[in-house]
Amino acid sequence: MKGAVFYCSKYGSTKQYADWIAGATGLPIFDVKNERTDPAMYDFLIIGSPIIYFKVLIRKWIRKHLVHFEDKPIVFFSVSGAPAGERLNGWIENSLPKRFVSRMYHVALRGRQIRKKLTFFDKVMLMIGSMFNKDPEARKQERKGFDFMDKEAIDPVVKRVHQFQSQAD
Ligand SMILES: Cc1cc2nc3c(=O)[nH]c(=O)nc-3n(C[C@H](O)[C@H](O)[C@H](O)COP(=O)(O)O)c2cc1C
Repeated sequence: MKGAVFYCSKYGSTKQYADWIAGATGLPIFDVKNERTDPAMYDFLIIGSPIIYFKVLIRKWIRKHLVHFEDKPIVFFSVSGAPAGERLNGWIENSLPKRFVSRMYHVALRGRQIRKKLTFFDKVMLMIGSMFNKDPEARKQERKGFDFMDKEAIDPVVKRVHQFQSQAD
């Protein structure tokens, strides 16, 4: 079976994970913001997106190509500050079509936020958000940033891809 990695990234950490996955699997890789993409050409899809302001950043691209996802295996990897859990699942369910969510295999990866690299707007918004955040750990992350990048965390994605690749065309 033929597959590809499609992703978008605001500050580069999702791109880094997508590059690692492509490197470990040999799959072609496409940034959906910069390139013409045709997911219809592939038998299975790996789709990666950061969570930005409680939403899946790649949601519009997913809605646009929904018809091509109907009968294909999909691995969706999210990249976020929050760990895997109910909060993250809630943001994903609110961003993406129900049927897509129910069919996809989700792998939650944790990203990176370097304060000095943020736009002025994002810095201010995250500072304001932190004032209302009741979770002390999340509040600290919003104010100071974090780096949870972990190459080994892609293993469940790579394993799935190897399963797909070992299936006959
Ligand atoms: C403006 C902004 C908003 C964010 N909002 C959330 C959020 O709602 N929930 C969360 O878990 N992480 C949030 N994050 C953390 C990002 O998901 C994390 O930094 C991720 O690695 C960014 O991916 P990228 O480097 O590919 O853009 C936010 C980060 C930024 C800069």
